[in-house]
Amino acid sequence: MKLKYFSHSAFQISANNGKIILIDPFLDGNPTSPEKSENVNADYIILTHAHGDHIGDAFKIAERCGSTFICVNELANYCQAKGFSAHNMHIGGAFDFDFGRVKFTIAHHGSITPDGQYAGEPAGVIISIGNINIYHTGDTGLFYDMKLIGEMNNIDIMLLPIGDNFTMGITDAAKAVELVNPKLAIPMHFNTFPVIVVNPKDFKDKVERDGNKCRIMNYGEEIEF
Ligand code: NI
Ligand code: MN
Repeated sequence: MKLKYFSHSAFQISANNGKIILIDPFLDGNPTSPEKSENVNADYIILTHAHGDHIGDAFKIAERCGSTFICVNELANYCQAKGFSAHNMHIGGAFDFDFGRVKFTIAHHGSITPDGQYAGEPAGVIISIGNINIYHTGDTGLFYDMKLIGEMNNIDIMLLPIGDNFTMGITDAAKAVELVNPKLAIPMHFNTFPVIVVNPKDFKDKVERDGNKCRIMNYGEEIEF
């Protein structure tokens, strides 16, 4: 399994069976992304919520690749109404896809499409491929149920926002890592816009002082697990 980071909350997972899964592919309008959407392919696109910096170029990519969306029911309905293929899920539920298992979790945030349509609850997502469990928290504030999410799902890699203003900042994000206790924490959703500029090194130092591992991925970097 390979995990690639485009910046912001946008990741690409290449599963062991060759399927490509994108999460929140915000590329063309994202000043920090090294990649344009025309060069990115997807079998599946997972959206944590409908804000523009998460839907991003999802529809452009899906139109070209015939990708299937995976998201909460209301947002999946919105994708289907636009003519796209989507798998409707909801918070707490898991489903086995051909590449692995996807489970949605709560996230404390908002969700509305760029054209003002109701998009259901925002979510986090746990993706299990082989024996690796990846928890992408979506946009969220800190919540104590993360402890339960960690206990129930044996998280290997936690992808979490640290940019503050719209989501957790560094102090709360470090606490979130402590609650979930993943084998590796990877920060996201920072330095894309002026209001979310932070130093990820401060986050890494804090996480490592607390005894957890942290890796700051470079934009465009891909790691094999
Ligand atoms: Ni958001
Ligand atoms: Mn966001």
